[in-house]
Amino acid sequence: MSNPYKDHWENVYNTKKENEVSWYQNTPQKSIDLIKSINLDQESNIIDVGAGDSRLVDNLISLGFKNITVLDISSKSIEKSKIRLGEKSELINWVVSDINDFQSDITFDLWHDRAAFHFLKSTEKIKSYINLVNKLINNKGNLIVATFSKKGPLKCSGLEISQYDSKGISELFENFKLNHSEIYTHKTPFNTNQEFIYNILCKTN
Ligand SMILES: C[S@@+](CC[C@H](N)C(=O)[O-])C[C@H]1O[C@@H](n2cnc3c(N)ncnc32)[C@H](O)[C@@H]1O
Repeated sequence: MSNPYKDHWENVYNTKKENEVSWYQNTPQKSIDLIKSINLDQESNIIDVGAGDSRLVDNLISLGFKNITVLDISSKSIEKSKIRLGEKSELINWVVSDINDFQSDITFDLWHDRAAFHFLKSTEKIKSYINLVNKLINNKGNLIVATFSKKGPLKCSGLEISQYDSKGISELFENFKLNHSEIYTHKTPFNTNQEFIYNILCKTN
């Protein structure tokens, strides 16, 4: 059955080159720095949720991480990352799924989400995402979630998003402790600025 939301994302990745989308980063440096700051073991289970064809996975491999899952609703985005990585793509557990339908036997020490969570608009979908992180992140595991800030754009990829501040994030993820929050200005390939908020939360129960 056709799913207009999934179709939107398949169309984006079918029609646009890697650097023709506003969220493109040649090197996702802020995410890399925050991940390094957590001092994870290289055996840690890591997932990048709504990864698209982001180069974060390439960097995670270079950092020596061995148990990496990459999830996106768009099969085309995953295919593009696999092609870019070549043989190294065999090191990765690839998942094509809507995050809210994701089921996993693996539980994670790090869950990274840049600019995917903010597309969830209904209370029901936001709650379902929170239930999922409560279930799938290990105790003392970390959640890095980056969204548009309260001063950021109202839309991303032509779709309405939810903006957040640190208070909103820490109230939503109540089983987590907010350890770090920072505003970060992303320069798009079109030379415009987008204000993000990057958060690190640690699961406390
Ligand atoms: C703005 S892009 C960000 C991509 C990547 N995280 C990055 O930083 O380059 C949003 C991504 O989230 C994915 N996405 C959006 N909603 C999703 C959902 N409900 N489940 C899984 N992936 C989703 C889209 O396909 C897209 O790749």
